[in-house]
Amino acid sequence: MTADRSRGATSGTPLPDGAVAIPVDLGARSYDVLIGAGLLARANEFIGNRLGAAKCVIVTDENVAQRHLAPLETALQRLGRHAGTRILPPGEATKSFGALSSLCEWMLETGLERGGLVIALGGGVIGDLAGFAASIVRRGVGFVQIPTSLLAQVDSSVGGKTGINTPQGKNLVGTFHQPSLVLADTALLATLPAREFRAGYVEAAKFGLLGDAQFFGWLEQNYRAVLAHDPAALARLVGTSVAGKAAIVARDETETGDRMLLNLGHTFGHAVEAWAGYSQRLLHGEAVAIGICLAFELCTELGLIDAAIAQRVAAHFAAVGVPTHIADVPGAETPDAATLVKIMGQDKKVRDGKLTLILVRGIGKAFVSRDVSTETVHDFLARQLGDKSA
Ligand code: GLY
Repeated sequence: MTADRSRGATSGTPLPDGAVAIPVDLGARSYDVLIGAGLLARANEFIGNRLGAAKCVIVTDENVAQRHLAPLETALQRLGRHAGTRILPPGEATKSFGALSSLCEWMLETGLERGGLVIALGGGVIGDLAGFAASIVRRGVGFVQIPTSLLAQVDSSVGGKTGINTPQGKNLVGTFHQPSLVLADTALLATLPAREFRAGYVEAAKFGLLGDAQFFGWLEQNYRAVLAHDPAALARLVGTSVAGKAAIVARDETETGDRMLLNLGHTFGHAVEAWAGYSQRLLHGEAVAIGICLAFELCTELGLIDAAIAQRVAAHFAAVGVPTHIADVPGAETPDAATLVKIMGQDKKVRDGKLTLILVRGIGKAFVSRDVSTETVHDFLARQLGDKSA
């Protein structure tokens, strides 16, 4: 699937003020992802022509509201169409049926009409929940994403996945509902805690590892500039990731083929994340870093790549400062292989009882595999964990 998008800043269309527009090509539902510093305070310029005479509402969380709500509300006041703001508690617990139903009822109470817009200002939790509500209120209203976390800017705000969590697992209830615009203001990333920023970086690096070796090489050379929030490096990181995601979503909107490649490291990563209890102990992006390293190690054992390639990937994540092995997860106990395989068996990527794994034939050469048996995965994990029960 490789296409080299890392040579220039992005493959997007430059805008006059240094921002770029990257199109997500989905026919009548196509939209742009605008990337640049300072877009939030100018949101009215981009949203106004999508709103007509209808109203818009903002959905955000308490942390994001403190930092970024005021400039957005000021911008929307210029349009005279802002019908209200809903500020929710931060964290995964907000992605629940309870929060969804009260959010939908609140949207109806504001008078949001069919032609109205829901503006999600926040990270992945707010984007997923607000997008889900937008997809079902009045059988679907418009939706704009203003992602404030690195993970949301490089991945989750693009492509239309929405959803909530249930006791059975994460994101098992949801819809595909594409936004009509994504505003990725890279200046907002300056206020992110360093640990959260590094966890988001992993999802950007994923695009290099799955389909763009040159981008991964650029990251190896330039990660220090990215971690130091150098504006040009950040623009390139976000732009190249979004261009990669847009190309995949345009080919496979509903994840029947190539979109599965975005799950590189996620089958292992979700199992480790679930075992760690979805807590501050291990952030999602950190779990994905461990999962990607496990996937590359498995590919070494399967004879698909040289061991040096897996070592190169782990060395890069270690340099960035994210965990690369289950043993790096803080806390005394480690899981056993059987526990992780059982969790993997409940993953929504299981089809016909077979694990779906994203494997690689090299950096930037990912493919979907359903050929690796559960026993092989179990024995591999047991060796990784030094598990005597293997
Ligand atoms: N974050 C993976 C996807 O959107 O498919």
